Amino acid sequence: MWKTAISTHVGTKALVRGYELEELVGNLTFTEAIYLVLKGELPTEKERKMLDVMFVATIEHSIAPPSVIAARAVISGGNSLNVGVGAGILAFGSAHGGALEDIMKLLQENINKTAEEIVREYLSQGKRIPGFGHRFFKDFDPRAKKILSYAKELGFYGKYCQLAEDIEKEIEKQKGKKLVMNVDGAIAAVASEMGFDWRLGKGFFIIGRVPGLVAHTYEELFEKPFSKRLDEEKDVEYLGKEHRKLPEEYKNRW
Ligand SMILES: CC(C)(COP(=O)(O)OP(=O)(O)OC[C@H]1O[C@@H](n2cnc3c(N)ncnc32)[C@H](O)[C@@H]1OP(=O)(O)O)[C@@H](O)C(=O)NCCC(=O)NCCS
Repeated sequence: MWKTAISTHVGTKALVRGYELEELVGNLTFTEAIYLVLKGELPTEKERKMLDVMFVATIEHSIAPPSVIAARAVISGGNSLNVGVGAGILAFGSAHGGALEDIMKLLQENINKTAEEIVREYLSQGKRIPGFGHRFFKDFDPRAKKILSYAKELGFYGKYCQLAEDIEKEIEKQKGKKLVMNVDGAIAAVASEMGFDWRLGKGFFIIGRVPGLVAHTYEELFEKPFSKRLDEEKDVEYLGKEHRKLPEEYKNRW
């Protein structure tokens, strides 16, 4: 028997979390409907606004990340839009998007520990602390800063945000180098304040970033097929064997 608490069909009516879908259409914003399917209840205006801030912060971040490279490379191989978007989603991992889930788990499971203990534990095991560090942002991640400032304004700044900020300070103290709280770290802290389970972490990134991936995939459909390939002269350093001859004993054997 399959079980679900998300939606059902009664006669001709679809009920989403108990509400008639028809009634939701035109009354709820997309973000409010997302909150409803994920959480099971309607959001307050503040919850809606907070989620909007988080999703917009995630929506796009250039052609460079692994997910966009994957999506565009797959389209370049002659595939259709859904295959490209799917490939992009498959590229989300612990260094890209998936960190959101890892830091949400870290914050939720370690809320009773101090930042000092958490950072020491990670660094002593040579592990990276998810949600911190960024290739370009070295002073602060403007997306994270904005998310936290809205969290304060809308009443979602609590123990998880505080712990995340303490971890940022503690990394600098213990590592002697600043690693900024990135967008994943800030979303993870606020989503935890809003009562979302860490197992939904990657879901937040997927929901937020898929529009960007669709746009990239669509754009790539109009590029020359096979254009997303490496130039072996410029982009590749070959580290293998020099040109060599196949030994005679391997030739003409069957
Ligand atoms: C995002 C990330 C890949 C950016 O990397 P980067 O700025 O290019 O930094 P590098 O990989 O060159 O690492 C630089 C140094 O900082 C360390 N470092 C970087 N991020 C770290 C982290 N989150 N925790 C601990 N150490 C970290 C590296 O080990 C390296 O240390 P070293 O100088 O002693 O060798 C990296 O910070 C990371 O893996 N962060 C955690 C995952 C994450 O939050 N991803 C979401 C990004 S939006």
